[in-house]
Amino acid sequence: MVKNLKPFVFPQIILMTVFSGLGLSCHQGEYQIGNECCPKCLAGRRVKTHCTVDSSTSCLPCMTGTYTDKPNGLERCHHCTNCDSGSGLRIKTPCTVTSDTLCEPLEGFYCVQPTGHSCERAQEHKHCKPGQYISHNGTASTDTECSDCSSGTFSDGTFHSCQPHTRCYSLNLQLITAGTSAADAQCGEGSVNVGTAVGGAVAVIILIIGGGLLFWIHVCVSLSVFTVSDDYNTALSKN
Ligand SMILES: *[C@@H]1O[C@H](CO)[C@@H](O)[C@H](O)[C@H]1NC(C)=O
Repeated sequence: MVKNLKPFVFPQIILMTVFSGLGLSCHQGEYQIGNECCPKCLAGRRVKTHCTVDSSTSCLPCMTGTYTDKPNGLERCHHCTNCDSGSGLRIKTPCTVTSDTLCEPLEGFYCVQPTGHSCERAQEHKHCKPGQYISHNGTASTDTECSDCSSGTFSDGTFHSCQPHTRCYSLNLQLITAGTSAADAQCGEGSVNVGTAVGGAVAVIILIIGGGLLFWIHVCVSLSVFTVSDDYNTALSKN
């Protein structure tokens, strides 16, 4: 007999608990205060004084910057949410007395903590590294996606695709620096590179100095020849 009773004991306890709970609750359009049920205030309003035996609930509208979005028995309206730019947010829809502010990510940010139609926290889109290209633009809800450049191409991290390295030889130019995944190849004009330019300048200087020396040697030799020449003096005295 005791064994057979057992399965009925628990459901009965559960049913009694549920009914006693329902017995204390009010209709959908009412709220409970003490042992009374009072009519709720509409969205956008709040309770000024609770109902009594001979008066209904009295309500007041929410002040600017506060709201209630449902019929309620609240004595205070909720404060509107701030869309904090420090959290990467801006206002999507301003607060009204019947609805809270909706926030959205700032330009260049994406939401990392969405709540219904709003966002509680956003983060800046990541920047692709040099050697990578932006394979997917970041959106308000997704981060930027980066991919590596394949060999022979480059991107500084801001490109939407990797560019092939400039082929210096096919432009009849000299390769000065080979391209990397982060930077293009650098080409130089024909055969003129830094080495030959410096070499050329040194050669010109040597030629100028050498030429000057040779000229002076020639002048000095000529003068000394004329000074000591007997033929020259003889020639003068004859005239
Ligand atoms: C990504 O955004 C840039 C501008 O920031 C635009 O030029 C480009 O077309 C976009 N790419 C895609 C795949 O939407």
